[in-house]
Amino acid sequence: MSRHVRIIPEAGWRRVWLCGVGGECTTIAARMSDFTVEKTRETKTTTEKPRDSAAEMLWGFWYPALPSERVRGRRLARAMLLEVPLVIGRDAGGKAFVLRDVCPHRAFPLSFGRFDGEAVECAYHGWQFDAHTGQCRTIPSLTVDSKLKCERIFAGSFPCQERDGYIWAFMTNPEGRADAGEAIPAVPELPTFSEHYKIARLAADLPCSVDHGIIGLMDPAHGPFVHQAWWWRSRRSIRDKEKQFEPIPNGFRMSPHAPSSNSAPYKLLKLITGEPATTTIDFVLPNQRFEQIRAGKYWLSSRTTVTPVKRDLCRLDFVAAWNIWPWFPVVSFIIHVLGPRFIRQDTEVIEKQGLGLKYEDRMMLVDDADRQARWYFELKAALMESRRTRAPLRHPVAGPVVLKWRS
Ligand code: FES
Ligand SMILES: [Fe+2]
Repeated sequence: MSRHVRIIPEAGWRRVWLCGVGGECTTIAARMSDFTVEKTRETKTTTEKPRDSAAEMLWGFWYPALPSERVRGRRLARAMLLEVPLVIGRDAGGKAFVLRDVCPHRAFPLSFGRFDGEAVECAYHGWQFDAHTGQCRTIPSLTVDSKLKCERIFAGSFPCQERDGYIWAFMTNPEGRADAGEAIPAVPELPTFSEHYKIARLAADLPCSVDHGIIGLMDPAHGPFVHQAWWWRSRRSIRDKEKQFEPIPNGFRMSPHAPSSNSAPYKLLKLITGEPATTTIDFVLPNQRFEQIRAGKYWLSSRTTVTPVKRDLCRLDFVAAWNIWPWFPVVSFIIHVLGPRFIRQDTEVIEKQGLGLKYEDRMMLVDDADRQARWYFELKAALMESRRTRAPLRHPVAGPVVLKWRS
């Protein structure tokens, strides 16, 4: 195996790594937050993500801000998304709102203020803001002959909806400025396949950048090492995997396939349903992983999102719905008892990884096990490019492709 490092002379371009595995090579040209891959031969490769590619947080998407039950009555709740502090509440009719938790007067956090069911009053000088639009309604210090038009002043505000037990905020821009021309897409929804079902949610903090959090979601190679448990898998259970992938809008899909046969919960599922199961896994920008398991009339549908709170902190939200034996808590047990252990294994590994990332934040992406991670970076770059040029997104996955790895 040989490796050559070459610096490209054009301004702004940092380096090209040519990594040969058995004589084949891939060229990566990388600059700040940019990532292009040019293949010289379609084959197994190792590539490297540049050190200075900052973890970009993607604006113009819906993100789950808080579980619905955390926002009750007239109380104002706090949250943070994409480094924006938020104050979240419900109006007199129970409809949720999300404002930037920064008073436009002198930056006092609005969450310390009072809320009467319609307007939030800043606790510093008493300015009042409409809870849904952020429009200023009253400035108590103004005299009647004041010329100041307080209705022209706005606190930052974000479109907001409730779905699947979360309050979602559409993060337009850091200021929470309304973007008149922008069409807001539908809020993401967990797919369900029958009228009656059970639902459960889990959450965890991940002390890492959004990129590390997300590529952890789609990393098949860590399973046998990180998620060792009698009910899941062991180092010895590692075996060859071969999965087909296809492009979908803003993401990619692991085409329907039989679930991993080396995991106890899937074996149990087969035992319960008595039917052959198929599973389909989608990743969709900016941060969502959907998994659907179908076995005859039974189904289990889950969504995991990794949402950037700050540059170095994310929150993982997992929600699952199912109709498998709703009267017997076997799936509920798997989700509520085994799920948190599984997530803890991931959070522990991310905490430990942080110790190393202080000294080295480059990463290597090894085909085929890390191909999904590479697609993620390429998708992000393609999205930014299409927003910049207003051209359609150039999808990095051209068509169906089979990936092979061992896990
Ligand atoms: S800082 Fe909010 S009213 Fe003055
Ligand atoms: Fe994991």
